[in-house]
Amino acid sequence: MKSPEFIRRLHEIVGEAGIVDDADRMREYLVDERELFHGSAAVVVKPSTNVELSQVMRICFDAKIEMVPQGGNTGYCGGATPDSSGSQVLINLSRLNRMRAIDARAMTLTADAGLVLADAQAHAAEQGLLLPLAMGSQASCQLGGNLSTNAGGLAVLRYGTARELTAGLEVVLPNGDMLSDLAGLRKDNTGYDLKQLFIGAEGSLGIISGVCLRLFPRPHSNLCAWLGLRHIDDALDLLNAARAALGDRITSMEFIAHDAIDLVSANNPESKNPLAGHEGDFGLMEIACFGDGQEVAAAIEAVFESAIARGNLGDAVIAQNESQRLALWRMRESIPAAERLAGGSVKHDISVPMGELCAFAERCRSSLAKNFPDARLILYGHVGDGNLHCNVLAPNGQSAEDFRAEHASAISTLVHELARDFAGSVSAEHGIGQLKRDLLAATTSPVAMGLMLAVKNAIDPHGLMNPGKVLSPH
Ligand code: MLT
Ligand code: ZN
Repeated sequence: MKSPEFIRRLHEIVGEAGIVDDADRMREYLVDERELFHGSAAVVVKPSTNVELSQVMRICFDAKIEMVPQGGNTGYCGGATPDSSGSQVLINLSRLNRMRAIDARAMTLTADAGLVLADAQAHAAEQGLLLPLAMGSQASCQLGGNLSTNAGGLAVLRYGTARELTAGLEVVLPNGDMLSDLAGLRKDNTGYDLKQLFIGAEGSLGIISGVCLRLFPRPHSNLCAWLGLRHIDDALDLLNAARAALGDRITSMEFIAHDAIDLVSANNPESKNPLAGHEGDFGLMEIACFGDGQEVAAAIEAVFESAIARGNLGDAVIAQNESQRLALWRMRESIPAAERLAGGSVKHDISVPMGELCAFAERCRSSLAKNFPDARLILYGHVGDGNLHCNVLAPNGQSAEDFRAEHASAISTLVHELARDFAGSVSAEHGIGQLKRDLLAATTSPVAMGLMLAVKNAIDPHGLMNPGKVLSPH
């Protein structure tokens, strides 16, 4: 398929700068963030406008060539890595990265899909506004990828996932047609809300080329508290008490089990746990402050004092300045890097109904301890969203690679079956990609699966879009 004529036409569309076709330069595009998947591609194409993207897709469609879209390539499930056939075209969006407009009155930001999330945040900040989508990979992940995976991140509690932040979308269909809905209308009931199909579809239905995102007033300051807890229910009770006192201003409620903090501290002696003597687990709560931050501080201190009196909270420390606040967040956000340094973990991102989160965590802890006695469970996550990461490291002294090769599948089965016993989801935020494709098929009802396949076949009848991701080949 990689006929000289096809490559010549790609060149005509995207120019020299938009083609990568020698093996050495292609390599960086062909492996996923966690290095779980290695693929091959006929060519990497990097369109720099939505028109170029549409033309590239049209010629691929005409030649029935499979297409694999790729944003910042920061995903955890191999969703942007081609298969090993070497016949797929990898379409990398990094040159399609213009900021299009900020509408300060409507409070929306419109941009090309390849704009890096941190750059979009900075554009919003220049206008005194907040783009609340935020996550560890924000310096390299891209808006299109964020929407394609319905990314969550650190402020879902207050602002919602990427889906809820999406006011409009522009998407190129497999045949090159463009569906454009970037007006950002708050209300629009004209038929099906088609943009929703492409959010979270991981490029299996088309390629998002432009996005319109909701912005918010920028908080004047953020109050961040580090909490000593007994268990997850303490975090949730505290969250609700804080909501009762302060309304809808709590932006994050993170839970971090003791072992997760120990792992971070072991790797980085600089990181200082302000409640180092606390024997239980930890929480991080962040509150957006408008106007007088002192009033918020006084209200939350009263909440903490009464929780301490009830025995629901061991102790709490409130960051006194921005650098203390950032240090608390660094401690939380360093967990994935600490896992990598320890050789990498078997990762999970489950969600269960909030009321069951604590019981789920206990069962997870005890079942893993029983079945994999020395494995290390690193439990943490966005408990305010009902979402936990139950990541499992090899026992101390054992090769992480050998441990994963031998046990990853059984460990994941245990965690996922448990999540389903609790009526939860086996993928709360990291998506499906190729890693969880078979799991999706095995855990989704036939009715839901039938509908998903019907949508896929209707929009991508030749199965050209990101084959083997999300859904099994038909
Ligand atoms: C996080 O919340 O830090 C990530 O989503 C989880 C991870 O990297 O395992
Ligand atoms: Zn997460």
